[in-house]
Amino acid sequence: MKNIIVLGAQWGDEGKGKVVDIYTEFADIVARATGGNNAGHTLVVRGEKYIFHLIPSGILHRGKKCVITNGVVVDPKVLLSEIDKLKSRDYLKDDDQLRVSSLAHIILPYHIALDRVREEKLGNRKIGTTARGIGPCYEDKVARTGIRACDLVDPDILAEKLRDNLELKNFLLKNYYGAEEIDFPSTLSEHLSYGERLKPYLIDTSLFLNEEINRGAKVLFEGAQGTHLDIDHGTYPFVTSSNTTAGGLCTGSGVAPTKIGGVIGVAKAYITRVGSGPFPTELFDDEGQKIRDRGCEYGSTTGRPRRCGWFDAPVVRYANRVNALNGIALTKLDVLSGLPRVKVCVAYEVGGVRREEVPLTLSEFEGARPVYEEMEGWKEELSDAREFGDLPKTTQRYVRRLEELTGVEISMISIGAERNQTIIRKNPFRA
Ligand code: IMP
Repeated sequence: MKNIIVLGAQWGDEGKGKVVDIYTEFADIVARATGGNNAGHTLVVRGEKYIFHLIPSGILHRGKKCVITNGVVVDPKVLLSEIDKLKSRDYLKDDDQLRVSSLAHIILPYHIALDRVREEKLGNRKIGTTARGIGPCYEDKVARTGIRACDLVDPDILAEKLRDNLELKNFLLKNYYGAEEIDFPSTLSEHLSYGERLKPYLIDTSLFLNEEINRGAKVLFEGAQGTHLDIDHGTYPFVTSSNTTAGGLCTGSGVAPTKIGGVIGVAKAYITRVGSGPFPTELFDDEGQKIRDRGCEYGSTTGRPRRCGWFDAPVVRYANRVNALNGIALTKLDVLSGLPRVKVCVAYEVGGVRREEVPLTLSEFEGARPVYEEMEGWKEELSDAREFGDLPKTTQRYVRRLEELTGVEISMISIGAERNQTIIRKNPFRA
């Protein structure tokens, strides 16, 4: 298998960054195809911490190309600040290492402003967005009024589109939300200067990727968010505004499904969620807090405490259905050490009836009660294990049970933040 998709099998924050970082060694190119700077990957390399919101974490591997494709919504200020930080730490010496699609939609200040005021207005019905302007930017894309990266380098077109957009956005901001308007001249000049700086990176990324693939290059597609935050397949409306599932990465990159060799779903050994929405296995007790603390479950984008709960097998089975997973990368297994027993949700009870699948409607999902299977926990710390056989027997049983319940082989196990704290059972690039 040459071209591999790595995506989230839960509600995001599964630890995709580390998995992508490990697989990058076997790929030539890493591409991001969906979402924007609502994502956040934290990586620890030789004790140093790196947080990325837009640029694929593969950028830390010298000689690998990183691509931000058409499906990503780009906040140019954030992208440029990531570029600057990388350069100041002696990475990205060659601009050719990073390519950005000319067709990627741009997040503008009015998207961010609208995201914020809208959430405020929703009060306790809010989605709990990352307030980065993601939803409003995708809305403009679908409404066919969006501004794309190529527009930033064309002053006349940018001025015309920005003026048109601001007329409506400022009307809404001022008259409907009672918020401050966005100034046209300063926004225009700011974005023209972003365009100047981004120009060397802008290309036709679909053409680039397909040519490279035809030449024999291996591409790793880095998903953002998770399956259950997908605009079509997630817990709507408590979702993000893009297709986070495997098909979304094809549309988002202009690389056809027949060119994809495999899909790896990343799932934590438990589960977390940020923002609102159904979460049947959520823990509100000391055990949940213990997991939150041990797993440092605080958002790398917003710093919000993540909601924590037991592993939900129907959630991952669903991810397998819509993405056809070739393997699961199970992360943060070490976080569960020290718990006397661990629980796994094997099904739900909805209105007194046992259901094996994730309910389709929000109200049913909100009313779903988890059916648990309880297993013996383990006291041992796991972070020194390098082979599956190094894990305590109880831990091995837990992993095997998750494989049975999800119907997917667990091909990688992460037991710590460092690269070497990983057990690779099967490498999709070598399968
Ligand atoms: P938005 O993507 O900022 O519009 O947020 C929509 C929903 O997706 C909210 O519940 C967010 O908390 C969630 N979300 C967005 N990005 C991420 C992520 O990278 N990890 C986890 N949740 C996310």
